[in-house]
Amino acid sequence: MNESPRRVLITGANRGIGLELARRLIAQGHLVWGATRSDAPAFDALGGAGHVRLDLADEASIVSAFADLAQQTSALDTLINCAGIDGRELGAAADRRSIFSIASDVLLDVQRINVVGPVITTREALPLLRRGTNALVLNFSSQLGSMEVGATMGSDASYCISKAGLNMASLKAAADLRDDRIAVVMLHPGWVSSDMGGSAAPMSPVESAEAIADTMDQLTLADSGRFIRWDNTDHPW
Ligand SMILES: NC(=O)c1ccc[n+]([C@@H]2O[C@H](COP(=O)([O-])OP(=O)(O)OC[C@H]3O[C@@H](n4cnc5c(N)ncnc54)[C@H](OP(=O)(O)O)[C@@H]3O)[C@@H](O)[C@H]2O)c1
Repeated sequence: MNESPRRVLITGANRGIGLELARRLIAQGHLVWGATRSDAPAFDALGGAGHVRLDLADEASIVSAFADLAQQTSALDTLINCAGIDGRELGAAADRRSIFSIASDVLLDVQRINVVGPVITTREALPLLRRGTNALVLNFSSQLGSMEVGATMGSDASYCISKAGLNMASLKAAADLRDDRIAVVMLHPGWVSSDMGGSAAPMSPVESAEAIADTMDQLTLADSGRFIRWDNTDHPW
């Protein structure tokens, strides 16, 4: 059992990196809630603190998820905005993902889920985070949101644009929340063999999650506004 268990909410906690991070944090003794848009049997099997329904595409469901969570805990120490999509999830074919071939509704819907969703989620979490200890918002970005990396890598323009947008949203949040002593950190989890990363990826969700959990132990308010890799090294902007 961890000496000082943290109260943590993870979006996208039923599969991929979010599920493995939940598993790791629960094993370390933290109190972990999952936020998922449908039933969460894999998360529930971990024996976490509970789960709430949250669909990033639906603002009302985010508001309602935090009303529900507030019935279960008086404070949150860590919000992990892990859930995210790329154009494939919305049915975009391989030849309809570049900057001028992508359908405008796909381009917009990926921004809604990857940028607007985490912003609203963080906004709704603020009352609980303000009562938390060493509060941290960890936003799952990507190397493809880096201007330096994304300029030449990443076939899905909607995804690259969304993670760049999430980085700027995170910097705005970091500045606004500094007086509240809430840290906001952007994290690239590595190229990971989840459903999104695919089987060719060099790192497993378990390896990524274990490294991220170690990194989370090291983060303080002084790290707010950083864009880091899974191992707490700085990622280029
Ligand atoms: N895998 C990589 O190589 C990689 C690299 C860089 C960054 N990332 C980022 O890391 C994060 C986790 O990725 P992953 O690889 O674990 O992806 P994943 O296996 O595809 O899982 C995506 C998660 O997002 C959830 N989600 C999707 N749309 C949602 C919505 N509208 N509302 C709520 N939840 C929603 C999914 O829930 P359902 O189960 O309900 O679909 C699922 O739990 C993402 O933000 C991703 O962009 C991943």
